[in-house]
Amino acid sequence: MNKKFYITTPIYYPSDKLHIGHTYCTVATDAMARYKRMTGHDVIFLTGTDEHGQKIEDKAKAAGVTPQQFVDNIVLGERGVKDLWKLMNISNDRFIRTTDDYHVAAIQKIFKKMHDNGDIYKGSYKGKYCKPCESFWTESQLVEGKCPDCGRAVEDAEEEAYFFRLSKYADRVRDLLENTDFLEPRSRVNEMVNNFIKPGLEDLCVSRTSFTWGVPVDFDEGHVVYVWVDALFNYTTALGFMNDKYDDYKDYWPADVHFVGKEIVRFHSIIWPAMLMSMEMPLPKKVFGHGWLLLDGGKMSKSKGNVVDPYVLAEKFGVDALRFFLLRTFPFGSDGNFSNEALIGTINVDLANDLGNLLSRTVSMVDKYFGGTLPVVQTADDEKDAELVSLISGLRAAYEEQMEKYAFQNALSEIFNVISRANKYIDENAPWVLAKDMDANGARLARVMYNLLEVLRVSAVLLTPFMPTTSVEILRQIGACECCSTWEAAGEYGALKADTTVVRGENLFPRIDEAKMLAELEAEREVAMKASAPVEKPEGCALIGIEDFMNVELRVAQVTSCERVPKAKKLLKLEVDLGYEKRQVVSGIAKFYAPEDMVGKKVILVTNLKPAKLCGIESEGMILASGEEQIRVVFLAEDTPLGERIR
Ligand code: MSP
Repeated sequence: MNKKFYITTPIYYPSDKLHIGHTYCTVATDAMARYKRMTGHDVIFLTGTDEHGQKIEDKAKAAGVTPQQFVDNIVLGERGVKDLWKLMNISNDRFIRTTDDYHVAAIQKIFKKMHDNGDIYKGSYKGKYCKPCESFWTESQLVEGKCPDCGRAVEDAEEEAYFFRLSKYADRVRDLLENTDFLEPRSRVNEMVNNFIKPGLEDLCVSRTSFTWGVPVDFDEGHVVYVWVDALFNYTTALGFMNDKYDDYKDYWPADVHFVGKEIVRFHSIIWPAMLMSMEMPLPKKVFGHGWLLLDGGKMSKSKGNVVDPYVLAEKFGVDALRFFLLRTFPFGSDGNFSNEALIGTINVDLANDLGNLLSRTVSMVDKYFGGTLPVVQTADDEKDAELVSLISGLRAAYEEQMEKYAFQNALSEIFNVISRANKYIDENAPWVLAKDMDANGARLARVMYNLLEVLRVSAVLLTPFMPTTSVEILRQIGACECCSTWEAAGEYGALKADTTVVRGENLFPRIDEAKMLAELEAEREVAMKASAPVEKPEGCALIGIEDFMNVELRVAQVTSCERVPKAKKLLKLEVDLGYEKRQVVSGIAKFYAPEDMVGKKVILVTNLKPAKLCGIESEGMILASGEEQIRVVFLAEDTPLGERIR
């Protein structure tokens, strides 16, 4: 029977669209889940959304929708959370929403159980509350009077509330942190013990009465369960704990690992085990606190307007390249500085130069020298091959050692060391020289090619968790069959059949022109910033009566032909059909629309504007558009009747 492996990401707050920092953790979890599946485990990979709390309630109110509508839009809407994971090729087995009925009912039972066993009691809450983090703090925990997590202002709060006896579990939690491998990297243990446990763990406020968007405490009306209690137990309700929706709890709990960002390590390594102890449930085997992706050394956040949109990056660079970059460039346990330059650099060096070149050179040489199929007769490996062959043979084990430690960056370095060595091996063996005398050197040349293909085969298999699509393509191009593309086969040199047939394919990673790409990204960022910038109220014109407005005759017209005006860069000459007559119009939109963008479209024409001449061409009306620097024509639905008056 296969070993089970249960891995989770934090469930995301759908209060804003996700950025590249959120994507980082989910891509890492996906790579680990794929790796575990590849190595023969039965994996459950859980992700989801954490949808309750005051922040969501407030945002929904500001947007004029219900909280449920608000979260539905961010989770299910276009370019929302689910869309993003689909785009990024995330292979989660389950997606939990904390608003799912089965979860809500289970949380009520869990809360009641801790209440019944005496670990949750009623008291009065007095303290400081950080709304954006949904966190309560004591005075002594504040840093310069501000929230220690995000540095923002906190507010006084006092209300009747339930408390969880966190203090009761302080010693057991400390023992767990200090004397086991529960929390990694190790540096985070000191942080937790020194900052939170040593100063004394206070009981935790676990219900609120000042808002309603949460799981109701079913035995005390008006209280809703603190969002972190609701959120943390998702890891168990998604397996079927205290509900009938799933039936995997007994087989998959405790989790093998929770991947979490460093700012929520406190919740996962102190509060979470304490609550599980209270519930007499087994503890997860590991919590891994990864670092943050920073921008210019600081935190990425919507409020700073410096978030990076994963959709834009995936469209520009490709999903696999982006996934690869995230795990290749930054050590998983530490912070890393995100930049477009670093992204382009990694793609150009590792993917275009090293991997892409090795593949295209090898495949095209096998094609050129052997018509695509290697001969079975090859020389044996000689001393020139020894180093490369031993690297290939040892690669899987070296990679595995790093992956088991969640050291993605090191695992990838192992692969890329062998790839670089292989590129050097090409130069050392100079296949183009061997090819000059095929009778004498054909068998040797075939051996050299075979060894290169073996590097590509083993690398492609081991890269599968990082670049699932690219790996399949590499294996296809080198003619690897299914049985030599497995994890088992990646552990042995020589699994590719000797007379493999290569298939030339397109260049997987074309080199990126850095200057051009940076300029393009910058221009797009500016447009996006403008689009999302707060709109200032314009001065506006004086009020007019309806009769004044009706003096302007606006009608539906369809563009029937369109051409550029020679020597006038800004102008297009259009012929439009009003149904009852045709008109010629000159419009200053040529920088934004090509003639072919306009033909067939329905637009709004000001039909009673006095004719005017532009660059000597008569214009009989004006097409409505918005904007000055960036002009956008107002297009109408295809079925709008011609000539109809617009009012
Ligand atoms: N809802 C909680 C998690 C509850 S788990 C029971 C939450 N949500 S979050 O949407 O704010 O953050 C989700 C994850 O994204 C966290 O692990 C957080 O650390 C991570 N990241 C958010 N910004 C990040 C970066 N800039 N870099 C890396 N990870 C970051 O916390």
